[in-house]
Amino acid sequence: MLLWLKAVLVPLVRLYLCGVKVLLYQMFNRPFTLPVLSKQNGRVAIVTGGTRGMGFETARHLTSLGMHVIIAGNEREEGAAAAKKINEECLEGKAEFVFMDLTSLKSVRQFAQKFAERCLPLHVLVNNAGTMLVPEGKTEDGFEFHFGLNYLGHFLLTNLLLDLLKRSGQHGCCSRIVNMSSATHYVGVLDMDDLNRRLCYSSHGAYSQSKLALVLFTYYLQEQLTAGGFPVTVNAVDPGMVDTALYNNLLSLAQILKKPVAKILFRTPAEGASTVIYTAAASEMEGLGGCYLYNGQKTQSLDLSYNSELQAKLWKKSCELVGLQEV
Ligand SMILES: NC(=O)c1ccc[n+]([C@@H]2O[C@H](COP(=O)([O-])OP(=O)(O)OC[C@H]3O[C@@H](n4cnc5c(N)ncnc54)[C@H](OP(=O)(O)O)[C@@H]3O)[C@@H](O)[C@H]2O)c1
Repeated sequence: MLLWLKAVLVPLVRLYLCGVKVLLYQMFNRPFTLPVLSKQNGRVAIVTGGTRGMGFETARHLTSLGMHVIIAGNEREEGAAAAKKINEECLEGKAEFVFMDLTSLKSVRQFAQKFAERCLPLHVLVNNAGTMLVPEGKTEDGFEFHFGLNYLGHFLLTNLLLDLLKRSGQHGCCSRIVNMSSATHYVGVLDMDDLNRRLCYSSHGAYSQSKLALVLFTYYLQEQLTAGGFPVTVNAVDPGMVDTALYNNLLSLAQILKKPVAKILFRTPAEGASTVIYTAAASEMEGLGGCYLYNGQKTQSLDLSYNSELQAKLWKKSCELVGLQEV
């Protein structure tokens, strides 16, 4: 009973309180307005989960700047339709869809391999795809679903593309990695002994853990890149609460309550994506890495996320889990 309270009820209450805090902020603060960004013809970007929601808005905007955008997603028809829609709208740039299922490490490896074979450069990687509050389940490789999809899939993808990002960047024009985190990371607890939440499953705890892991990963990777003198930056973004299909897994009562609140207080997908696009493409962000951005501003993340020992521990464990040699 005590374990259930600690592992299930506490994360649920903390996550909803976190949501209320974000909504109060959104009630009294305007959404970030994206400045006009300069054209970026010739730059190549990958946006995971770019078929809908904020990923779609990000892919659309980056394409409109003249970039060649690869939408990486797990729904072929939806993905092709998203790319078609963007290409019809954008006079410059180009969008295309390439299949990648983040719940399968094999699929992530195949995607990275195929991408490498094309000999394209890579200037921007937006690790946007995600899922929230799904019932207990495992990915193809046996990882807890949120941890596997939101975090480990992106961890592997980034590492597989890292050499290319390093080669494609230049000092004064760095390659950029943007990790989509969330305010829920503030209530995240990283259980290094039970990352897959086998002891007592809580979808709320699992989601916030995956978003905290992304922040720890962001800071650790930036440290490594800076130490190596590589022209690549990596930042984490918190988009606020945004009205997308991400909330489809809320319990039915929460769904009913969410609808009217979302209409008034949630950001639109375009508003939510604005900080992601800014981080990925604004000249103001040139050379800036290791930041947590919210509403267009650099903000403090959870104190624990700055703990370099924990960052290193998570990095090491993640390498083991996805079968990467530690770098
Ligand atoms: N909405 C919010 O309030 C909010 C707040 C904080 C953070 N975020 C984060 O923002 C990101 C984007 O979410 P969103 O709100 O725009 O939600 P969304 O509309 O549900 O978009 C999620 C995207 O992820 C893709 N995806 C899901 N499973 C995948 C898989 N196995 N492999 C590859 N792609 C997969 C989806 O593609 P398919 O349709 O093809 O499955 C979809 O394009 C997520 O990381 C989310 O955690 C959202």
